[in-house]
Amino acid sequence: MKRIKIKDLLKSTDYNKEVCIKGWVRTRRGNNHVAFIALNDGSTIHNLQVVVDMNLFDEELIRRATTGASIAAIGTLTPSQGSGQAVELIASQLEIIGDCDPNEYPLQPKKHSLEFLREIAHLRFRTNMFGAVTRIRHAMIFAVHDFFTSKGFVNIHTPIITASDAEGAGEMFQVTTLNMNNLPKTEDGKIDYSQDFFAKATNLTVSGQLEGELAAMAMADIYTFGPTFRAENSNTSRHLAEFWMIEPEMAFYDLNDNMDLAEEFLKHLIKYALDNCEDDLKFLSQRLIEEEKNKKAEERSMELIEKLRFVLENEFVRLTYSEAIEILKDSKPNKKGQFKYAITGYGSDLQSEHERYLVEKHLKKPVILTDYPKEIKAFYMKLNKDNKTVRAMDVLFPQIGEIIGGSQREESYDKLVARMDEMGIPKEEMEWYLDTRRFGSVPHSGFGLGFERLLLFVTGMGNIRDVIPFPRTPKNAEF
Ligand code: 4AD
Ligand code: MG
Repeated sequence: MKRIKIKDLLKSTDYNKEVCIKGWVRTRRGNNHVAFIALNDGSTIHNLQVVVDMNLFDEELIRRATTGASIAAIGTLTPSQGSGQAVELIASQLEIIGDCDPNEYPLQPKKHSLEFLREIAHLRFRTNMFGAVTRIRHAMIFAVHDFFTSKGFVNIHTPIITASDAEGAGEMFQVTTLNMNNLPKTEDGKIDYSQDFFAKATNLTVSGQLEGELAAMAMADIYTFGPTFRAENSNTSRHLAEFWMIEPEMAFYDLNDNMDLAEEFLKHLIKYALDNCEDDLKFLSQRLIEEEKNKKAEERSMELIEKLRFVLENEFVRLTYSEAIEILKDSKPNKKGQFKYAITGYGSDLQSEHERYLVEKHLKKPVILTDYPKEIKAFYMKLNKDNKTVRAMDVLFPQIGEIIGGSQREESYDKLVARMDEMGIPKEEMEWYLDTRRFGSVPHSGFGLGFERLLLFVTGMGNIRDVIPFPRTPKNAEF
């Protein structure tokens, strides 16, 4: 008999027809006469209750249908007698597909800490929490492609192995096939990369932007959605060494067009989650309330679904970096020395504590900050007429801080080369990129959305390790 998914069955009113379901046992309870098995198959947060008449089955078979075991059940759907579910399956046949030793199985039918679940990430998918996160992650991937497709953007696969450092921050993982125990050296004692696989030093990409710009100079509107790698040693709840980034790049867009697109994009993703992930969001909302119940009222987060609606219904505040610095300089926490990094004035780099103060305490809305000092931003950003600031934009979200980073790009060949010289960026390696400014250059803009940062916001989870199946962080590449 063909298997039907629990999600579909729970919506069905097709009673008295035999159906087959397969899944993993969450719990089993009952007595000598009847057993109730809560079965989950990953299609929904909800379990299906399978009702087993003990007189019809071998006791040993039912004993094996224990938490974690996989089973198949054939039976008829009926309106449920009990509370807690609308329908249940009255089993006529039951088969154990895979046994699970309850004494060995790490997941017990109780709440486990997020830290413990990270240690058993290979089993984490079996929890309600991670099931919900995983389904929402999928929904957001779909919504990203849906948004850009509807706007006529073309998806570009940019390389994962590259020889350039797009962000110029030097936080790269090297890629090599050289023997680490016996490195070939040149005459002056340096490593001889001409003998390496690509005959040059290569690394994992930190961003697909530079290659994306090449595509935008012909296809006009493109986006990338790929893994990016950063060897920054930041052990925070918002940093991963391997994360996914969505990077649209648009010809003929200025910074305002870029900000409009970023705001529309984020709102589309959030609306998609509200419209399509209701059950999972409700579960995660409840989880967050539980988690924060011991916090003081003023320290608790806004209810998850309310928070998502709030972002949807409000315009993002647009502010320059200089305006933000003035606000921060005069802020209470700055005057009282409560920031870890004091804001002294123009030039100070913004840390997440500052970003969150602006968004959560001062403006109480998502914020787009623009026109940062050139010294703290990447070489490719368009220089303003003041010669001091660049056309950068960072979108700041409550709870997250920076969720998007982007800019209008410097389209003038001469100005771009001057910036590269100023910043000591070698041009020889970048001729292919500079060609975009040689042959029919146009004003263009783009941005990068950190996919896991988006998921943190949408799911209300507090740690970025809990929104990606297999997190890569300093000293951790398990599973
Ligand atoms: O601000 P970033 O470094 O910008 C770029 O890489 C540009 N090339 C984007 C562009 O203009 N096309 O990174 C973009 C976003 C950040 O705003 C943040 O959301 C996320 O990527 N991000 C990280 N997410 C998780 N872990 C990390 N270590 C991250 N570093 C950046
Ligand atoms: Mg950034």
